[in-house]
Amino acid sequence: MHPVIAIEQLTKTYGSGHTALRDINLEIRKGEIFALLGPNGAGKTTLISIVCGIVNPGTGRVLVGGSDIVRDYRAARSKIGLVPQELFNEGFESVWATVRFSRGLFGKKPDDALLEQVLRDLSLWDKRDARINELSGGMKRRVMIAKALSHEPEVLFLDEPTAGVDVELRRDMWQMVRRLRERGVTIILTTHYIEEAEEMADRIGVIRRGEIILVEDKARLMKQLGKKQLTLQLQRPLDAIPAELATEPLQLADSGHQLIFTFDTQREHTGIAELLKRLAAHDIDYKDLQTSQSSLEEIFVDLVRTHT
Ligand SMILES: Nc1ncnc2c1ncn2[C@@H]1O[C@H](COP(=O)(O)OP(=O)(O)O)[C@@H](O)[C@H]1O
Ligand SMILES: [Mg+2]
Repeated sequence: MHPVIAIEQLTKTYGSGHTALRDINLEIRKGEIFALLGPNGAGKTTLISIVCGIVNPGTGRVLVGGSDIVRDYRAARSKIGLVPQELFNEGFESVWATVRFSRGLFGKKPDDALLEQVLRDLSLWDKRDARINELSGGMKRRVMIAKALSHEPEVLFLDEPTAGVDVELRRDMWQMVRRLRERGVTIILTTHYIEEAEEMADRIGVIRRGEIILVEDKARLMKQLGKKQLTLQLQRPLDAIPAELATEPLQLADSGHQLIFTFDTQREHTGIAELLKRLAAHDIDYKDLQTSQSSLEEIFVDLVRTHT
């Protein structure tokens, strides 16, 4: 199947001389939720802005639903909804007029039933006659989302959708994202909140200093890179790990009351049985033990750190 978005050899250097994107190659599959994860300044907004036609592409090629974003700008743009990182709204219009106008901009026939559903889904229906400048920040953001959905895009971009957003909006937003996906809409979100990618995404791309350093199915990423830890609550605290155990991947924590063993979930032999025997041989007793799996957050921090 053709990807819904194909980005080929995209490099972008701003007028300042700063190269924000370097040789990006990325394909987005139809109907997936793709999270583009990266620290501030990595190039996420630049990439989205190019695909949406807001920032001039440098060199390379971008196709949206088969349409080239430069040669077939209107066709490409009409397939996309964008909820930008920064809030901006025309203030004096009503919510309803704004959303209706937005649909018209894309040359779509009026469809008030559809727009009503969009506003209801975003808990904006009661506010349809309110002027946008009278709304709270959270409500304004909902209006931005409604505008982005007004022309029934195939692909929805959410640039840092939950940065500075209240819990309620965050929850509504994720419900909406799931509903859209069920209808076959492709969703691309950027975030530097790892929990978000962990909770929502089918695939994750990690971008760092303008380069995509990894693209992977979320489940596989977590499995491949996920390390497990075994934490032992010691009967008697240790000052140091005995020299004979120095070759083991062990750390002391909680002022010597905890001994932490890190093991690889992919390995056939975790080494736990061996470790427990060796501890017994050194008279290191424990009263409790538990295991935990590293979160995507730890995986991400590791990745960004090791790719220097
Ligand atoms: N209009 C611009 N002119 C020059 N440099 C820019 C411009 N916009 C962004 N940058 C720079 O490009 C890099 C990537 O920025 P951005 O795409 O906003 O990253 P992110 O969204 O991942 O935080 C940053 O170093 C930023 O300072
Ligand atoms: Mg950004």
